[in-house]
This record gives sequence, C-alpha cells and structure tokens, in this order.
Amino acid sequence: APLVVAVDGPSGSGKSSVSREVARRLGAAYLDTGAMYRAVAWHCLDSGVDLADPEAILEAARTMPLTQSTHPDEDVVLVGEADVTEAIRGAEVTDVVSTVAVVIPVREELRRRQRAAIADAGRMVAEGRDITTVVAPDAHARVLLTASEAVRTARRSGQLAAAGEPGVDAGTLNRQVVGRDARDAAVSTFDRPAEGVVLVDSTELDFEQTVAAVMAAVEE
Ligand code: CDP
Repeated sequence: APLVVAVDGPSGSGKSSVSREVARRLGAAYLDTGAMYRAVAWHCLDSGVDLADPEAILEAARTMPLTQSTHPDEDVVLVGEADVTEAIRGAEVTDVVSTVAVVIPVREELRRRQRAAIADAGRMVAEGRDITTVVAPDAHARVLLTASEAVRTARRSGQLAAAGEPGVDAGTLNRQVVGRDARDAAVSTFDRPAEGVVLVDSTELDFEQTVAAVMAAVEE
C-alpha cells in the first residue's frame, strides 16, 4: 500500500541519515530534496549562470537533466552525464544553494518533480524543508526533526570530516550553519511544527533512538 513519510528539519538535524534508515526499515524509496536544490546550484555554477538573475536560475532549473537514485542504499546524483554526488555537498555549492532555493518558481519546478517522484514510488520517505507543509501535507506521517544549534554544528562538523572536506574551526562552522538557517528562513522556519506534524527533538537522542522516534510517528 502507498505510504508517504515527510521529514523536515534544519541543517545538521540528521534528517538525511535518519530518513534513509527509516526508508530501509519501511522498504520504501528515499527522496533527498536538498540534493535537488544543490544540483540546481551546481548546474548554475557549472554553466556560468548569473546567480543575481532569478530568470536565468529558473531556466537552468527547468532544463536541468537530473537523475537521482531513490534507493536508500544508493547515493547517486547526475546532471546530464556528470556525476555530481560529491560536488553538490562541497563548500562552493553549499555557499550558494540558498540563493537558488529562495526563487519561488524554482521551488515550484522542483516541487513538481518531487510530487511526481513520490507518486511514482508509492512508498517513499521524502526529506527536506517544506515537505510536511507544502510538498506532501497529506503524507501518512509528518515529522519535524530538530536539535539544538550546538548539536547541529557538531554533526555538520562530523559530516564534513567524513566527506574529507577541509576542516573549518568551530566558530566559523557555527556561523555557516546559523547563516544558512537565516537565509533559509525565507522558505522555512522551524520554530514550531505545523499542525499535525510530530516534533522529534534529537538533541539528547542517539541515531538509533531518533530513528525509533520517527518510526513510532509512522506507526501511530
Ligand atoms: O545541509 P543540509 O542537509 O541542511 O541541507 P540540504 O537538505 O542538503 O538542503 C540544502 C539547501 O537546499 C537548504 O539549505 C535549502 O536552501 C534548500 N532546500 C529547500 O529550500 N527546500 C527543501 N525542501 C530542501 C532543501
């Protein structure tokens, strides 16, 4: 039977790793919508699109030939023939992704693709910043995953180290996380969950406990 689980949360909340694991346990597909915004940003940088020109960004988003694996054990993102899986997580893309994400028609284009992917999969865990509220407000389960700013900064630091990215000092990293949250506030705020959305605060939870809390929301 179709089963849609929507997970939103800010940077470093653990939503990607947690959502992937929930998808595995449910035998569902997994959609990383942040990767789609990142792919648009990569595509703009790669093709020299002027990031001060929303029309040009929109055109790039509309014509972007994106291929994205929705298997929870597979992380592959292609733009055309280019494998951008690693490049889209790099600092260059992270620095500009909010710029493309605030262009409303870009969001409409990606949301259209996201809804099509969800309908196509039937069983899917979709994760991002506007999934519980806009992309799939009628999902079977909707979860807002949060964590304290200190914990989110620490997790981001661990992710960068694991990805082999150059180390950044804690203060800089904290400013980057908070700065991106602030820019993203134009599209999403996580001060409180929307009506009907279950709040999971993972500040004091380990990975397994966080996954269990999301699974409990699904089984409710
Ligand atoms: O690094 P983190 O996991 O927080 O970010 P992400 O999920 O990869 O998303 C990267 C960026 O894409 C965010 O900072 C937002 O600007 C944008 N985004 C969005 O606007 N809406 C979504 N549903 C997902 C991501």
